[in-house]
Amino acid sequence: MATKPNAINYWPDSKCAKAFWSQHELPSYQELIRDTEAWLQPKADETWLDLGCGAGQLSKLLWLTSQGSIREVLGMDVAAINEESFRKLRANLEPAPTEAQFHFQQGDFSHGLTSLESGRFDGVVSGLAIQYAEDFDEAAGKWTDRAYDQVLREAFRVLKPGGRFVFSVNVPNPSWIKVAWVALSGTWKAPKPLKYLKRAYRMYSYGDWLKREARKGRFHYLPVETIVSKLQSAGLERIEHKTSFAGQAFLLRGWKPV
Ligand SMILES: C[S@@+](CC[C@H](N)C(=O)[O-])C[C@H]1O[C@@H](n2cnc3c(N)ncnc32)[C@H](O)[C@@H]1O
Repeated sequence: MATKPNAINYWPDSKCAKAFWSQHELPSYQELIRDTEAWLQPKADETWLDLGCGAGQLSKLLWLTSQGSIREVLGMDVAAINEESFRKLRANLEPAPTEAQFHFQQGDFSHGLTSLESGRFDGVVSGLAIQYAEDFDEAAGKWTDRAYDQVLREAFRVLKPGGRFVFSVNVPNPSWIKVAWVALSGTWKAPKPLKYLKRAYRMYSYGDWLKREARKGRFHYLPVETIVSKLQSAGLERIEHKTSFAGQAFLLRGWKPV
């Protein structure tokens, strides 16, 4: 039996989490936000889950596009420090949400979504996160996609019948150089260009680790046909997809049958 390799996971670290707090400033990410927004269409009184929410940009998007009319947005992420960002967002959003309407829960989706009851949400959103679900098979001595498949099944489980799952994941072998190149074009528009460049570089510096682990099969940058087939196996239907994030991510949407 092979033992699990000493695989560092930087995601729970505050330093790594904070490096991604500025991701929304990147022009490529703004393209992804616009595309995601077009597929979310939150309605009054709905409840939403933001999986791997990071600083909460997609949760914020849900709140603002619904003009504060949704009942609840719950952000879940493995990095506990992201609660701080949710607190700041709550204090500054207009209209102002209550804590029950806009809140954070620390959780690792590689172990499922056990704290969440079935059929609780009208929508699940996730931005560039579920691809980091990890599982190591000690008997076979290799990384597997079991945790990834489990996240899809769990997203299906926590959705109400008729609910939708809108999420983005990176394309196979993503070109961070391309993302960085497009990021450079944003430098001149940034109010503080030097600070903007520093933040973009901090994020970029985690790129090698992510690609290296994806090559080992620990993280999952999959072809879109594979993802569609996995979504169908999880039970979702009416699956749509498109390319976004400067060509470096797929955005997908699927529905739980009524
Ligand atoms: C590239 S960032 C995207 C953050 C956010 N969704 C956004 O769009 O700005 C990936 C996020 O996935 C989270 N993540 C990675 N592995 C996770 C896990 N096993 N469980 C929960 N969150 C995880 C990270 O902490 C990080 O916040």
